[in-house]
Parts: sequence; structure tokens; C-alpha cells
Amino acid sequence: MNIAKKLISEKEIQEKIVHLANQINNDYKGKELIILGILKGAFIAISDLAKNLNLDVSFEFMSISSYEGSESTGQIKIEKDLDIDISGKNILIVEDIFDTGLTLSSLIDILESRNPKSIEIMCMFIKPHDKQIPVDIKYQGFKIGSDFVVGYGLDYMGRFRELPYLAALS
Ligand code: IMP
Ligand code: MG
Repeated sequence: MNIAKKLISEKEIQEKIVHLANQINNDYKGKELIILGILKGAFIAISDLAKNLNLDVSFEFMSISSYEGSESTGQIKIEKDLDIDISGKNILIVEDIFDTGLTLSSLIDILESRNPKSIEIMCMFIKPHDKQIPVDIKYQGFKIGSDFVVGYGLDYMGRFRELPYLAALS
């Protein structure tokens, strides 16, 4: 399998990150914020976002998997949970991609039961899907097609995460 074509350039992605960071800076001005990064796919977006934030912010991580190869398994697995109490905190989840909606809808259910003050989501790439579970994503990067994509944190069997752009595989 080789990289077929570049779908979204590094420049476009970086411009989007600055735009989203500006919105987040405005929305959380004067508030404490915890960025909850979802590993592994969001690691590049989290670090690019971090460099553009101008807030009282801290960073926490969870590791969740739902995919094996390029097929959804239909359930999520928490590989690494939070090690802090989030009750009364403002949480902003940063996720790589939205496809069936399973990951984010399950995650929201889990986190809401822990009584945070607020939960919002930033997701870099939004795919269309026939049976998508609806989730409210406040900070959206790009709407893309349904092809399997790699790069900017996204992998195929652990590869291609390091690409600074988004690409489709052939
Ligand atoms: P969902 O749970 O179906 O919404 O899918 C979200 C998760 O599936 C993401 O966090 C990714 O790990 C993975 N995923 C979905 N589509 C792609 C893709 O095109 N490339 C790489 N990973 C994907
Ligand atoms: Mg993921």
C-alpha cells in the first residue's frame, strides 16, 4: 500500500489549527481548561494546537482504540484512562477523526458520568457515515470524504502518522 494522493496540505492544516486555537482562546478566556488529547491519533494536532493557545491550560491524555487495520471493530477499548479527577473542570477533547461516531459518543458518556463542569470536542477531520452516531463537535477541522486517510497523526497499521499532511491510501 502506497500513499495515493495528498488531500489536505500542511499549510491548510496549520491555518486551520490557528483558526481553531483563536476560537478556543476566545471561548475559554479567564477560565481554566483541561485539554484531553486522545492518543494516539491526535498527538500532532494536540501539539500544534498547544503552541497557539494563550490560556490557563493543562494537558491530559487518554488512549482509546476502536480500529484494527482499516475496519471498525464496533466497540472502543480504553487502553489508558485519565489519572486525574475531572469533576468541576472544563474539558476540551481533542480527537483526530470522526467516522462512525462510536469513539466520541462512548467517550462522552464515560466522561459525563464523572461530572465535569463542561465538555466540548475539537476534531480535525469529519467523515460522512451512513449510520453515524450524532455527536456535537464544536471545533471542526475539515469535512472529508469516506476514503481511508493517513497522515497528521492518523495511521494505517501504525504507519504514516508522521506525515505533516493528510493523504488517501491506494
Ligand atoms: P469512529 O469511532 O468510527 O468515529 O472512528 C474514530 C476512530 O477511528 C479514530 O479515532 C481513528 O482512530 C479511526 N479512524 C477512522 N477513520 C480513519 C481513517 O480514515 N484513517 C485512520 N484512522 C481512522
Ligand atoms: Mg483514534
